[in-house]
Amino acid sequence: MTLTERIQAVQPSSTLRITALARELKAQGKKVIPLAAGEPDFDTPEPVKAAAVRAIQEGFTKYTPTTGTPELKAAISRTLAGDRGLTYRPEQIAVTCGAKQAIYNLLQVLVQEGDEVLILSPYWVSYPEMVRLAGATPVEIRTSPHSGFLPDPEVLSKACTSRTKCLILNSPSNPTGAVLDEKLLKEIAKVAAARGLWVISDEIYSQLVYGVKHYSIAAVSPDLYERTAVVDGVSKAYSMTGWRIGYLAGPTDVVQAAARLQDHSTSCPSSISQRAALAALTGDQAPVKGMVEEFRKRRDFIVQRLSAMKGISFVRPEGAFYCFIDISSGGLPSDVFVERFLKEFQVAVIPGAGFGWDTFIRISFAASMEELSEGLNRLEQFIGSLR
Ligand SMILES: Cc1ncc(COP(=O)(O)O)c(C=O)c1O
Repeated sequence: MTLTERIQAVQPSSTLRITALARELKAQGKKVIPLAAGEPDFDTPEPVKAAAVRAIQEGFTKYTPTTGTPELKAAISRTLAGDRGLTYRPEQIAVTCGAKQAIYNLLQVLVQEGDEVLILSPYWVSYPEMVRLAGATPVEIRTSPHSGFLPDPEVLSKACTSRTKCLILNSPSNPTGAVLDEKLLKEIAKVAAARGLWVISDEIYSQLVYGVKHYSIAAVSPDLYERTAVVDGVSKAYSMTGWRIGYLAGPTDVVQAAARLQDHSTSCPSSISQRAALAALTGDQAPVKGMVEEFRKRRDFIVQRLSAMKGISFVRPEGAFYCFIDISSGGLPSDVFVERFLKEFQVAVIPGAGFGWDTFIRISFAASMEELSEGLNRLEQFIGSLR
């Protein structure tokens, strides 16, 4: 059987091997310190769960409109207006099966064979593969730890060719935690507008910022509002990764095109999860505030702990719950480093290679203070043993 060229061009997830190995170690009775998680370690808030139970009991268990219930879309519209100053009518919003589907659908409707898509590197692992699945070519724009992994608008401009169609932004960033401020977003917007680019603004970590404000490029530049699709969801902020509710908002024709694709692929996201997401967005926001406060404490702790460590360097994350650490002093490629760290010290982290940086690892602070503390002690020992 011959698989399509389309799928053959797609790389397997770089985290699969390490996840399988961690599972194997656990099965052998070893206690693995989990610093690899891409999801909050908190439970979904109780009122959100209760709303889902009520939905089931009331028989709210059938198809909804493909792009989501009117109530949820209205709540999303209010959310985007409230925390980002973005105005979207319900027909400019589509609810999706996670933010991942929103990005996938957008790329399918915005780019095609021959097009180039600019991706800031380090990048979230799925962007290049999603771009390839849309037939287009990902173009990596490398940033630098020396400038906080923030992009240089001039470099972006120079990277544009006649084929460049789209730019993907992710602020706060996975894996670096970098947050793009208003001034920089305005400069990027100027480049994107001048070059006629579409922007996909992945804001899935929008609420997880520590002492800085989250801005959306669609809000800071009126020019770009018409050429930007904003992606967000409830997965990270409400600890709802398994419920699979994300959304996109943008110009009506783009959203309607993405909806057509969804009509013929997955239809609506789960009706029950939509009710849960509605409860999350419209209910008491104290659980989010509590989680952000806890993440901020952990961020402060790891920054202080890593600053005292020899043989590594890192950039202080301003958002999300990751820290991207330079381990080049150890002289190992990131997947070898990670495999040895897991086998010899029982700590799970993610190799930087999947994010485009093979001399880095990503640690997640979606873990308890005790786990973080012990995990970082072991990191210090391992790094020390390599030098
Ligand atoms: C940058 C980024 N975008 C999108 C997603 C996908 O989110 P969801 O679980 O809502 O599909 C993730 C999840 O890890 C992410 O890190």
